[in-house]
Amino acid sequence: MRVEEHPILGEMKKPNVVEIEVDGEIIPAIEGEPIAAALLAAGKSIFRYTRKRNEPRGVFCAIGRCTDCMMVVDGIPNVRTCVTPVRAGMKIQTQHGLGEFGGPLS
Ligand code: FES
Repeated sequence: MRVEEHPILGEMKKPNVVEIEVDGEIIPAIEGEPIAAALLAAGKSIFRYTRKRNEPRGVFCAIGRCTDCMMVVDGIPNVRTCVTPVRAGMKIQTQHGLGEFGGPLS
């Protein structure tokens, strides 16, 4: 769900919709929006699993402070997706533990 008409900000301008790949699945996203927003709009809420207990984590603070939203983005682990803007063609993977450069699928 996205807010397309806001009482203060007004109507949303026509977005530039692009495609990103998330764990092998292509989903639509708005260029420039935080990756986390695109994932939540696509119904995805688990972004990583913790190292010790393998517990799921997702968006918590949404301002780049808590690191719960870290994922592997274009092969780089520990990217905070709540403050990283979408670019067309990004490859995003759920992060397990501390993550690996190149990601688990490479
Ligand atoms: S949700 Fe806290 S850093 Fe992204």
